[in-house]
Amino acid sequence: MPFPINRMRRTRQTAQLRSMVAETRLDPGQMIYPIFVCPEENVRREIPSMPGQFNLSVDEAVRVAQRVEKAGVGGLMVFGIPETKDAVGSGAYAGDGIVQRAFRAIREAVSDLVLIGDVCLCEYTDHGHCGVIQDGEISNDASLELLARTALSQVEAGADMVAPSDMMDGRVRAIRGKLDEAHHDEVPIMSYAAKYASAFYGPFRDAAGSTPQFGDRRTHQMDPGNVREAMREIELDIEEGADIVMVKPAMPYLDVIRAATDRFPAPMAAYQVSGEYAMIEAASRNGWLDRDRTVMESLTAIRRAGADIIITYYALELAEANAF
Ligand code: PBG
Repeated sequence: MPFPINRMRRTRQTAQLRSMVAETRLDPGQMIYPIFVCPEENVRREIPSMPGQFNLSVDEAVRVAQRVEKAGVGGLMVFGIPETKDAVGSGAYAGDGIVQRAFRAIREAVSDLVLIGDVCLCEYTDHGHCGVIQDGEISNDASLELLARTALSQVEAGADMVAPSDMMDGRVRAIRGKLDEAHHDEVPIMSYAAKYASAFYGPFRDAAGSTPQFGDRRTHQMDPGNVREAMREIELDIEEGADIVMVKPAMPYLDVIRAATDRFPAPMAAYQVSGEYAMIEAASRNGWLDRDRTVMESLTAIRRAGADIIITYYALELAEANAF
């Protein structure tokens, strides 16, 4: 009997065989592309720490949304950069706020693309925190009503789904209640359930101008070393009515994605955040990584870990290039 009987290399011989035995595939319909919408017109300002990504005025955002839909990307996540900020983040829930204006314009221009509002106050508060401040502390319960109002105003402007990213306790419940009261019981909530206090959000804070002016986000975002706590966060958000739950960031937290999908049957999203994007871009620009292969490998790994949905700044480019 010749040795070995089993040869793992047999099914790796050609691209066709490898494709036949592939366990993990990427699908643009399960990707969400995030954009940053800013005031004025004809603005398409590249974000220095996120080359290839832009601050877009509403008219430019509409054009991008049309491309996103045409390319077959599943969803568009909209972040706002308001004209002015204040202590209570009024711009987040203003009827004519930047995100609300963007949703109205985009809704007109696309048909079935899933429009998703990021619900948080940090881009709209002058102190840069995700909730309101009382006696020098972020007040959890005082923030809930404002977050719920933000979600409702986004839905009224045309959002199909809302995604709370603030990490206040009870926000999913508060948002669900507010939406149902206004007869928007069909609108799903995708909660940033296990969101870590991560250094990988650095470039996003440049892009959105949302760096905290004092302190940090460790009183609400999670400690990077904790995984059982992430299971509790996810469990609670599902109990409060979350339809989709998210782990964020993605690549440094693949074990958390795996633990969560093994445990909960809810649809699972993972956010490949700004810092993950910036690392790949910076290394590629230096000639230190093969960009295209690194991008595909990073996304495949996130999906292999169990994520159904991936929020990624690469979604539009990959879908337009038919890279799957
Ligand atoms: C708002 C929010 C952040 C991100 C998404 N929503 C920043 C933060 O919490 O500091 C990060 C996204 C990214 O880094 O790509 N709270």
